[in-house]
Amino acid sequence: MAGFSPDRYDSMNYRRCGRSGLKLPAVSLGLWQSLGDTGNEATCREVMYRAFDGGITHFDLANNYGNPGGNSELVAGRILVDMPRDELIISTKAGYGMWPGPYGDFGSKKYLVASLDQSLLRMGLDYVDIFYHHRPDPDTPLDETMGALDLIVKQGKALYAGVSNYQGELLGEAAGLMSDRGWAPLTINQPSYSMINRRIERDTLAVAEESGVGVIAFCPLSSGVLTDRYLDGLPADSRQGLRGDSGQSWYEEREKNGLWDGIRKLRGIAQERGQTMAQMALTWILRDDRVTSVLIGASRVEQIDENLAAGNATPLTSDEIDNIEAILAEID
Ligand SMILES: NC(=O)c1ccc[n+]([C@@H]2O[C@H](COP(=O)([O-])OP(=O)(O)OC[C@H]3O[C@@H](n4cnc5c(N)ncnc54)[C@H](OP(=O)(O)O)[C@@H]3O)[C@@H](O)[C@H]2O)c1
Repeated sequence: MAGFSPDRYDSMNYRRCGRSGLKLPAVSLGLWQSLGDTGNEATCREVMYRAFDGGITHFDLANNYGNPGGNSELVAGRILVDMPRDELIISTKAGYGMWPGPYGDFGSKKYLVASLDQSLLRMGLDYVDIFYHHRPDPDTPLDETMGALDLIVKQGKALYAGVSNYQGELLGEAAGLMSDRGWAPLTINQPSYSMINRRIERDTLAVAEESGVGVIAFCPLSSGVLTDRYLDGLPADSRQGLRGDSGQSWYEEREKNGLWDGIRKLRGIAQERGQTMAQMALTWILRDDRVTSVLIGASRVEQIDENLAAGNATPLTSDEIDNIEAILAEID
């Protein structure tokens, strides 16, 4: 077992996930991009250790994360073996295409059960804490998908059931089915949410609250847009810089429509309150207590150090929130 800081629980806030007994750290870490690719296991280990030392107890995966797909779970498994399993919340998902044929995609019981078995093998775990259906399936009856989540919980392969990318009414239906049938409660929804992607404010957050479902916001930094990363040009080692020509056109398009100028203005507010842009973007999401946690990504330990501080930051004042809204309205 690796040695971890005895102070690791001193500064992070832990927030209750919906009406469940589960608490998640205000900041959680995902292993989708940057961390699960072949060849970067040492960085992944360093980042996960640093995160855990700072109170990040929750690591999020999916069957298809990493390059090649599945690699994030393999890498995570080799790292988790040296970490205290009972102090950790590990999640995985199935719902996007994972293997050929009709049983390796979407939301059938056949796919979800088989995929979780594969994920557990890849990670070398007996169970995950949260298992998600990764995206809505327009064809499979919702009660089959939710019934599969219930089965998985009853089998002890996951402790909590979750859905991801379910919005508004559909989230309510899914949570209602679980409760009406006496199935494992739907504990958490994982939607995209950031200063520049506010779809869930329309109805999903309200439905989550009514249904007692927690919310973990993915891509809270819009994959690096809501940080300093792109404010002095396109860095070659950034997520977009690594995409070559398509990253370059992505960057120029946003320069033309004034996005970077808007982010610089937001950074001005962050600086006035003694935060970095990334920290303020996370603090802004956590202003809403219907959101349990922000699910960040990181490509290096310095980003973890910076982002961790949002886990116990001073809340935004109403004036600061109004000033941020005014800039976001201009960016829109
Ligand atoms: N359920 C779903 O459908 C779904 C979809 C997408 C993601 N997710 C989950 O959400 C997690 C996070 O997604 P994400 O990685 O896009 O999240 P993000 O936190 O919005 O972006 C993370 C990226 O931003 C950059 N960054 C982070 N902190 C920074 C800082 N302080 N300063 C400068 N740059 C910084 C890094 O990119 P560089 O590489 O440029 O350094 C980092 O990899 C995933 O790992 C996954 O678990 C779920």
